[in-house]
Amino acid sequence: MDCNIQEVDAIIEQWGAKPDSLLQIMLDINHRYHYLPKESVKRVAERLEMPLNQLFSVATFFKVFSLVPRGRTIVHICTGTACHVKGAPKLLDRFEKDLKLRPGETTADLALTLETVNCVGACSAAPVVLVDGVTHTEMSANKISKLAKELKAQEG
Ligand code: FES
Repeated sequence: MDCNIQEVDAIIEQWGAKPDSLLQIMLDINHRYHYLPKESVKRVAERLEMPLNQLFSVATFFKVFSLVPRGRTIVHICTGTACHVKGAPKLLDRFEKDLKLRPGETTADLALTLETVNCVGACSAAPVVLVDGVTHTEMSANKISKLAKELKAQEG
């Protein structure tokens, strides 16, 4: 999604063009575009009169922010020890086969991003997959295929 400077300005206005508002502004922009477009970061630096490299440091420090485009839906496959032992590699293989996505990749239409995560604290229900933060437990290759189909259908 292209960055619209008027939209970025409106977000800045909402929180106030002051350094104290930086995180809220960045969170809103990240939420709006599913990542932080470079032009938006430059605009915020300009308006808040803050050094650009300080904003990039914040953007890279907090995992919630991304400087590269991400999908509207984020799928996390847990690859922690319990999930690994219970079949996470098979889930990754099946997801790749069904959706042609490997960890760290985003579909060309920006519908989906696949990432891995190291334990989400649900080891007793391994292997675990999160879709936009919603936990799916005791996953199998067939279950993840079904999930992949549903995600595809949602996007039409
Ligand atoms: S290892 Fe996957 S939830 Fe703990």
